[in-house]
Amino acid sequence: MTHDNTPIASAGTGLVDLFARPISYLRLSLTDRCNLRCRYCVTEEESDGCLTKLAHDELLSYEELLRVARVAVGMGIAKVRLTGGEPLVRRNVMQFIRDLTRIEGLDDVRITTNGVLLERYGRELYEAGVTKVNISLDSFKPERVAAITGVDCFDQVWRGVETALALGFSPVKLNMVAMRHVNDDELADFALLSRRLSVQVRFIEFMPIGESSRWNADTYIGTDEIMARIAALGELIPLEKGRSDGPAKVYRLGADAVGTLGFISPISHHFCSRCNRLRLTSSGGLRSCLLHDHEIDLRPVLRDGSGDEALRQALLAAIRNKPEGHHLDERLRRSGSDCHGRMSRIGG
Ligand code: GTP
Ligand code: 5AD
Ligand code: SF4
Repeated sequence: MTHDNTPIASAGTGLVDLFARPISYLRLSLTDRCNLRCRYCVTEEESDGCLTKLAHDELLSYEELLRVARVAVGMGIAKVRLTGGEPLVRRNVMQFIRDLTRIEGLDDVRITTNGVLLERYGRELYEAGVTKVNISLDSFKPERVAAITGVDCFDQVWRGVETALALGFSPVKLNMVAMRHVNDDELADFALLSRRLSVQVRFIEFMPIGESSRWNADTYIGTDEIMARIAALGELIPLEKGRSDGPAKVYRLGADAVGTLGFISPISHHFCSRCNRLRLTSSGGLRSCLLHDHEIDLRPVLRDGSGDEALRQALLAAIRNKPEGHHLDERLRRSGSDCHGRMSRIGG
């Protein structure tokens, strides 16, 4: 780090923030729109109807997104994850993805999807070079999936999972947000799936984010309890973290399991000291932490004729502002969440 606390950006060292964390991962939210209405994501009012949608010009265009990605990759970003809302509902998304994966120096582009459109787009994604996918799936019971997501989509999502596996996507990660009295009776079924399928089943602690406050202390289940319940099924063998593994702690349930288990504990054991991420919201907000509302609006920088240097400075400013961590656990004990960002705009 330099004396004025400016993060370093150079080809040799990459980007490093003020807490010596290497920053190499950008999450791009392509749209706030979604074809589902998951109860942990949307508000009560939205679950019955439409999400409040961004106007067309509030959304970053594909050209703008590509420009940000190019500049960020030039500064040391090596991994991009596409999120939403649901990224695959944005019109002409596949052409954008093909252009994105052609950016020189960007060899790792992944996607987080609800899986509904994966059967349709899986092959094109794979051929475009997006061969790693995270799929949200909170239950194996079709009627429960319908209750959680607002849409009767289990079969469609499951065909998406099968498509991804058949095409050779690797890894295929299944995101299960664990909620007491909602889906916690399926923890064992999810864990056992990893014994026979080549997937990483991830148990995610339910976070109180945004206006969706269906969250309450009773619904929340911490990783320690989830692990204790799964450990009753067999030996949990810890695995070494891969270089590009995210926040999950990874295990195998029995030495002969084909797949793995991941535990994501944003509340009980937060991973902020290892956080390597920046986020770009669908409306162009550069956000250095999921759980802090501070954002730098890139739209003026992208739209006022400024050159790439101004973009670089905005990225550096976001990295400089990246907080050391969040205090969700303490805040929850005091008075509940005060994170106001919307998951569907930020992209998780
Ligand atoms: P990879 O590690 O790249 O596979 O991705 P990921 O697990 O970070 O991405 P995914 O989109 O599948 O998110 C899984 C869960 O982790 C979601 O509930 C996210 O909201 C949560 N998550 C991802 N990144 C962060 C983060 O930086 N902070 C917190 N608190 N939660 C995060
Ligand atoms: N807490 C934890 N995870 C969440 N997700 C969405 N909302 C929440 C929440 N409140 C997860 C979804 C999706 C990922 C991007 O974020 O399951 O897989
Ligand atoms: Fe859509 Fe994802 Fe939100 Fe579910 S969690 S409503 S799939 S954006």
